[in-house]
Amino acid sequence: MNSQNTIKSSRFGSEQGDVNTTRNRQKYWEKNLSENAKSICTRDNKYFLHQNLSTPVMNVLSKAHGIYIEDIEGKKYMDMHGNGVHNAGFNNPQIIQAVKDQLDTQMTFCPRRYTNSKAVDLAQKLAEITPGDLCKSLFCPGGSEAIEMAITLAKQVTGHFKTISFWDSFHGAGFAAASVGGEELFKGGMGPMMPGAMHVEFPNYYRNPWGFCNQDEVDNEYLRQIKTILEREPGVAAIIGEPISATPVVPSKNYWERVKDLCEKYGALVIFDEIIEGFGRTGKMFASEHFITPDVLVLGKSMGGGLLPFAGIVTKQRYDNLEHRSIGHYTHEKNALCSAAALAEIEYIEKNNLVENAARVGAHALSRLNELKEKHPLIGNIAGVGLHLGIDLIKDPGTKERAVEEADCIMYKAMERGLAFKTIEGNIITLRPALTITMEEMDQVVDILDETIGEVENSQFY
Ligand SMILES: Cc1ncc(COP(=O)(O)O)c(C=O)c1O
Repeated sequence: MNSQNTIKSSRFGSEQGDVNTTRNRQKYWEKNLSENAKSICTRDNKYFLHQNLSTPVMNVLSKAHGIYIEDIEGKKYMDMHGNGVHNAGFNNPQIIQAVKDQLDTQMTFCPRRYTNSKAVDLAQKLAEITPGDLCKSLFCPGGSEAIEMAITLAKQVTGHFKTISFWDSFHGAGFAAASVGGEELFKGGMGPMMPGAMHVEFPNYYRNPWGFCNQDEVDNEYLRQIKTILEREPGVAAIIGEPISATPVVPSKNYWERVKDLCEKYGALVIFDEIIEGFGRTGKMFASEHFITPDVLVLGKSMGGGLLPFAGIVTKQRYDNLEHRSIGHYTHEKNALCSAAALAEIEYIEKNNLVENAARVGAHALSRLNELKEKHPLIGNIAGVGLHLGIDLIKDPGTKERAVEEADCIMYKAMERGLAFKTIEGNIITLRPALTITMEEMDQVVDILDETIGEVENSQFY
């Protein structure tokens, strides 16, 4: 492996995404960026605060449409990341039209203490399409704030203040959201975080410290940990997690059913963060539908139609008893423009059967990726459901050592062939395209992965 590569083999520097200061990144810039792009990146570097994962940037974009992002030289990339906002495709013309129409009505921002028909239509629509008896909404600008609202609600209605969430998870950068998140990157150097925020591991059928391969063994061990905390640390307000981990690991239905039973027994709520997984991504309108109905469902990202920041929570009638407290109180809680975008997004997903498309194209991708796994020793595991897929790259099947440098090389090689994706935990390639992607486009994605993985296996590093 390239000895000058500066990537640490530890995954902790790259929990949420690829590392942006590697030698490969430097090489990619030198080879691919025009003088114009380099000059904009230099100004970006000069005027933005630096932070891990965001700066320095990869490239300069001029537009995004459908499943593609396009750089300022006009080169198109199939984007498998899209920050999760692109479920209906980037810059979907019908959502743009709905937002333009709403702008023309002059009902855009709605001051608090008033309402408007678009916000009410959206709350009603969410009550109709979210699972089970979820029916009461609150909106806010971003996912992190929505998580804060969910935690506040759980604390208020249970009278408890502790939380259980998962190591390696990300729920946003706000204080409570980062506290329940499981990543050092967002907490290091911050001093004490939210009191009572406890963490357990997410069930992992491929990687776990005991070497368990059997699903029941894995579930039993992780449930034992949760039960121990609930017994010995009374006063847990909620268990907060993504129904499917970001890596992605798809837990068994049995796992979430038993978590729900434990929560009922100990008076805690189940909060599902579907900020990424909601609105069709996993081949169901909401990922919860694969498992259980949570007490609080948290939505965001593509809820703004890929155009505007918007997020929220949907919960049960029985938790609507906090007239004496404020849970959100966000300036944009009934923004009509954002609500119009959200309604247009849902309408587009429904009319164009994007949930079914995600299930169909995702199943095809999963089967093709499993074929690649037979061919490429670098691939240790394929996981996911719908258009939420992950490829775990390993150096050795015995040790499952993470192939971090190899994943980085594959990422830049794929970028040069017009395929953009994010790695997670250093060695896992994540694929989360727009739900509008066709079978043919997905085949191109898999073909590029096949080629680039093969090259790196043959020591043709980046
Ligand atoms: C699962 C999950 N939860 C919460 C958030 C935070 O959302 P926002 O960036 O809108 O605050 C994110 C953002 O990436 C996320 O992926």
